[in-house]
Amino acid sequence: AYAVYQRVYVVKAKSTAAYKLEEFRKAASTPLSKLRSISNALCTEMHAGLIKDGGSRLKMLISYVDELPNGHERGVFYALDLGGTNFRVMRVKLAGKAKRVDKSESIEVSIPPEAMLGTSEELFDFIANEVAKFQKTEGPEYGSLPPGQKRELGFTFSFPCNQTAIDGGTLVRWTKGFKVSGTVGKDVVKLLTEALTRKGVDMRVAALVNDTVGTLAGGRYNNNDVMVGLILGTGSNACYVEDIHDIPKWTGGPVESGEMVINMEWGDFYSAHLPITDVDRELDEVSVNPGEQPFEKLISGMYLGEIVRRVLLKLAEEGEIFDGVTEKLRERFVLKTPDISQAHGDQTVDLTAVGRMLKNRFGIEKSTKEERELVVDLIETVVERGARLAGAGIVGVLKKIGRDGSSKRFSSSQKLNARLTAGAPTVVGVDGGLFEHYAFFRNTMQGTIGQLLGDNAKLVSLELTKDGSGIGAALLAATYSKYKTK
Ligand code: GLC
Repeated sequence: AYAVYQRVYVVKAKSTAAYKLEEFRKAASTPLSKLRSISNALCTEMHAGLIKDGGSRLKMLISYVDELPNGHERGVFYALDLGGTNFRVMRVKLAGKAKRVDKSESIEVSIPPEAMLGTSEELFDFIANEVAKFQKTEGPEYGSLPPGQKRELGFTFSFPCNQTAIDGGTLVRWTKGFKVSGTVGKDVVKLLTEALTRKGVDMRVAALVNDTVGTLAGGRYNNNDVMVGLILGTGSNACYVEDIHDIPKWTGGPVESGEMVINMEWGDFYSAHLPITDVDRELDEVSVNPGEQPFEKLISGMYLGEIVRRVLLKLAEEGEIFDGVTEKLRERFVLKTPDISQAHGDQTVDLTAVGRMLKNRFGIEKSTKEERELVVDLIETVVERGARLAGAGIVGVLKKIGRDGSSKRFSSSQKLNARLTAGAPTVVGVDGGLFEHYAFFRNTMQGTIGQLLGDNAKLVSLELTKDGSGIGAALLAATYSKYKTK
């Protein structure tokens, strides 16, 4: 911290830009006391959201997943993954405990921007069309279908849905830059099934899952101690295994496992303690979903680069840095997480990678070394804030399930306690580019959990769980298959 302070101080002596940056830094700071308040607030909101619908901004959505994969799943299943920048279709052959995933294939296509902002029918037709093409490539090695059966699929739809069953749910609202008309309030399984029918695909949607839930399922397939699924990618969200008795709003009667996976939709978490700056407020005001997803807008990959760009634009407009303002510097979302991650890791003396980023993304041909240093400082401030808030979020979840070391009780569910490996840490399965590819983000988040939990940090382990939205969804389709023989 001292080195960083010194660096800023030197720049400050030469221009006022660093001073303004220092103001932003102050507003965005996340001292431990603040993070503690945030963890506590999150935990309180979790309780409130479980009591009744609308009890909190945290929706705490019931996923209808009350049984997670155990390794014995068998059969051929498809998975669709819609929710980030790409759309994916996957086919897997599950071969039981010993052989596990015998075969898997997938295709990935980027979603055309007009499909993200068009009509529901356009979006679902686009999806169904890709599924139709992919299904035709199914080879004989997958075997033929027993008479009277259809192929089943797990549909990972990474937006808040009010589920009515494992295979049905209505869209609460779009997030992450999607704004498709005519979908909110509709059953997305129905919309998908209709589109598939239009394209001549005869498949059955066996499970509608959020990507966090897919990640939890994919993680659980390989490790019994996975209790939380976390996404740190374009968006951010978490789900976890809750004791059914701790969900007052559950009216569905007894559940054999005694457990239920809850999709928190933590992106919409709000607390007065959140370090929201003027720049964040401006970003929010012009976003497609103003006032929504405040936590996500501070943490996730879709927004980090955009926050950095906005601060740079302000400084440039005020004549503090660069020689004027370029067109590109005014363009929203031109700076992506991979850009800032690369610039952040620039080890060259003259920060040439930072210079290249300014040139390629913003058309800024000339920059001084001081300006480039300022850019790195700024990136670090923004990313550090996001990572520390994500760390505080995890601690809040652990607190809720009594796994932060502050209480002995984990759950009143005997079965659940018996299943966990005695003395082993609670595992958080994490997926998403921010966690996978941005080492500074990952390390900062891990470090923050360490600072918040102290010795008890050994009670939790974060593990990269790749492809939960693919394999995880296929596994849940298998778990909830209509043709499953008990
Ligand atoms: C957004 C969505 C949520 C999803 C998350 C990560 O927050 O609302 O459903 O899990 O992004 O993709």
